[in-house]
Amino acid sequence: GMMRELLGLKELEQQLEQLLSVNQVIVVPGDSSEEAWVKHDLGRAAVEQMSLLAEEKWNVAVAGGTTMAAVAEVMKPSSKLKSLVFLPARGGLGEEVENQANTITSKMAQQSGGSYRMLHIPDQLSKEAYESLTHDPHIKDVIRQIRSSRMIVHGIGEARTMALRRKSTKQLLQSIEERQAVAEAFGYYFSQQGEIVEKIQTVGLRLEDVQQADHIIAVAGGRAKARAIRAFLMHGTHDVLITDEGAAREMIQLC
Ligand code: F6P
Repeated sequence: GMMRELLGLKELEQQLEQLLSVNQVIVVPGDSSEEAWVKHDLGRAAVEQMSLLAEEKWNVAVAGGTTMAAVAEVMKPSSKLKSLVFLPARGGLGEEVENQANTITSKMAQQSGGSYRMLHIPDQLSKEAYESLTHDPHIKDVIRQIRSSRMIVHGIGEARTMALRRKSTKQLLQSIEERQAVAEAFGYYFSQQGEIVEKIQTVGLRLEDVQQADHIIAVAGGRAKARAIRAFLMHGTHDVLITDEGAAREMIQLC
């Protein structure tokens, strides 16, 4: 509408599509680094894209974080969304309960009328416990479903912010510093050039599964995240980026 025209959002979107080689960029007004409500606008734009792009009965893998929690909060029932199966993208990643992928997955199903499956994998596991859990037939089946998701919706974070938020070990903090990680998504840490420099041991989506999905929707905004969003998108071709003006203007400065 008028507001979008006045703010030049269309131009911003087109510029970013070219600079970042993303099929579609959607920019909502505001800066979620400054104003928390902007996350709900990011959420509404994400729900709209999910409804448009998903096909009936698809498996949809969803990540954790506060942005994804906002997507779940603003989700509403629709005949398309109702037919979807929501799955957590990965096992425990050290988030608070309300920001865990499992919680967000069940909330999306509740809000939309869709169904969901959970993945019960604790955050801190010994190698032995981890191996025996992943041999459990029920867990194995959920993992298989997650990996065959046709749509993936996820957040992006700054590497150091995420490592601290997850109360990561000194070794991990040191490693991401030495290897100059700037971005994080699904438990993978990425350098400025989009190379993987660290990853958290848990089950669920691997990057090769992500690349096989029909639609990959990244939802991340805020000026403070501009470098991280750009670095993560350097890793490969993305489908849709939903961001805000704060991050968008800053990314253009960086390019
Ligand atoms: O921990 C889950 C996760 O999706 C991360 O992969 C991502 O970096 C982060 O959450 C984003 O969180 P937020 O939306 O709160 O910035």
